This record gives sequence, structure tokens and C-alpha cells, in this order.
Amino acid sequence: MLKKIDIVKNLIKKHSALFRCPKCEKEMKWNEENSLVCSDGHCFDLAKKGYIYLMLRKVETHYNNKLFESRRALCQAGFYEPLTQELVGLINKYLNDEIAQPAIIDAGCGEGSNLARIIEDISANTPQEPVGTGIDISKDGISIAARDYPGIIWAVANLADLPLADHSFDVLLNVFTPFNQQEFKRILKQDGIILKVIPEEGYLGELRDIFYKNSDSETYSNHDVVANFKQHFAILETKRVTYQFKLEGEQLSHLVNMTPLAWGAAPENIRKVTDMGEMNITVDVVILVGGKR
Ligand SMILES: C[S@@+](CC[C@H](N)C(=O)[O-])C[C@H]1O[C@@H](n2cnc3c(N)ncnc32)[C@H](O)[C@@H]1O
Ligand SMILES: [Zn+2]
Repeated sequence: MLKKIDIVKNLIKKHSALFRCPKCEKEMKWNEENSLVCSDGHCFDLAKKGYIYLMLRKVETHYNNKLFESRRALCQAGFYEPLTQELVGLINKYLNDEIAQPAIIDAGCGEGSNLARIIEDISANTPQEPVGTGIDISKDGISIAARDYPGIIWAVANLADLPLADHSFDVLLNVFTPFNQQEFKRILKQDGIILKVIPEEGYLGELRDIFYKNSDSETYSNHDVVANFKQHFAILETKRVTYQFKLEGEQLSHLVNMTPLAWGAAPENIRKVTDMGEMNITVDVVILVGGKR
């Protein structure tokens, strides 16, 4: 049986055309010594953990190992499963089903659970064999993704300066993550689709009520984000997804650990949530499905 690291090497070798050099933007090839190399000789090694580091300099980020382990625990508990299933349904609806191996990129994939579930579902339930690539600026997130999901290409990269080839992806996912119209248009194929998930006003509203009662952060509007998306992509569909999910015991600690909403909250308010025992938490988002104009 192939070792985990060999599965990753074979994947990157087979799909090296998806990448471009972060330094000079030239094509890259896999060299058997363990790296992606461009024709100018810029070389990026595969880490032992099974991901490729494609940044030119380190970036500090708030998104750390603890946050991603908690996010992963909630994904495993099914917290985001209804949303993931909606994404799968929309991909199946809009992706051309004659493409045998669609290339799917998750830009800002975090610890990778969402992309992994989507690839697993499409592979199991359609004749298509998608090739998944997940990129994130946080090495902690990508390390967990590579540890748990070896059938996908994982890279540390900045979505504002993607080390990815022009017009090479059929589907781009952008879930609770910054948007970059120029780069996203560049890497999408002409008939490619983009699915952007953004919070609606009810998203984690129970936390917002406890953390930010009577302050500006108590309400949230996604109006500007939606308007910006519509300016750059043709809307194929807009789908609101709203549901409640019961979290209990230590899942409530995972909830406050995994959300940036807790970054500005007072410690006593965070304790109010973790002491609660159980809570029904609202997931309220909109999925924007877009195509290139
Ligand atoms: C709220 S998390 C969402 C993660 C994941 N999509 C999910 O739904 O679990 C936002 C993610 O965006 C990533 N991120 C922020 N700025 C980024 C950038 N410039 N390039 C790549 N990733 C970025 C963060 O590291 C973090 O993983
Ligand atoms: Zn180069």
C-alpha cells in the first residue's frame, strides 16, 4: 500500500500544471527530489507533513492551531453539514457534468474539512472524480488538513497572490474568507463557477447577543460584500441557508475557540457561553453562485 506522503507526491506530480511559480509566475514541474520547481529554478519543497509551502515570506495570523482543531471538532460533529450539503447540491447543479476530473479549489480552506467532505461526496455520488486543492495563509490550518485528508493537494498560500495557473479551475469555493476578484477571475476557467459563502444577520446570533449586547457589533450587514461580488461575477443563484444546531458540553468551548467573533469579547461573556451546558446555535448564511461575465 502507498504511504500517505507518496499519495500526495503522486497527486502534485500529476497536477503540477495547476501551479505557477510564486516568484516569477512561470510554469512548475514536480522534480523527483521532492519539490515543485519552475524553469528559472525556484524550488518549493513538499513538507514532511504533506503540504507545499508557496509563500515568499511568513505572515502572522490570528488563526492558530487551537482555533482550527476546534473548527475541525465542530465540523466532525456535523455543525456545518447542512451548509456543506447545499454547496454539493449547487456544484452538481452548475458544474458541467461532462468534465471527468473537475479541478476544485478552496481559497481560504482553513483546516480543510469542508473541501474534504465536498470532494468525498461528489466522488461517491457522481461519475466525476474531482481533484481538490486547498490553500490557506495559515500554516496551522493547512498542517491539520494535510494530516487528516491526504487525497487533496494542500498548500500554504495567499489568496491575494495565488501561486496558481491562469484559467485552471472549474469550481472555486470561498467560504467565510476574504475575496479577491482579480485573482479569482484569473484562475477560474471561462465556464468555471465560484461559490462564496457569507454570514447573514442571524449567523451565530446567540453568541453575538451575549458578547456584544448594545454595541455596534450586535448587528451585522453583508450588504457591501454582496454588492462587491455582484460587480465582478454574474450571479447564477443566491441561496440563503438557515438552521439551528444544538451544541453541548465541550462543543460550546469549541464554538468560542473557533470563531473570530470571540476575539473582541470580554472573558466573563465567553464564560457565560461555556457554562451554558447546551445551546441552540443559528447558522444563517447566503451562498452566492457566480460565473464569469
Ligand atoms: C473564518 S476562517 C474560514 C475557514 C474555512 N473556509 C472554514 O469555513 O472553516 C477564514 C480563513 O481565511 C484564511 N485567510 C485569511 N486571509 C487569507 C489570505 N489572504 N489568503 C489565504 N487565506 C486567508 C484564514 O487563515 C482562515 O483560515
Ligand atoms: Zn520561478
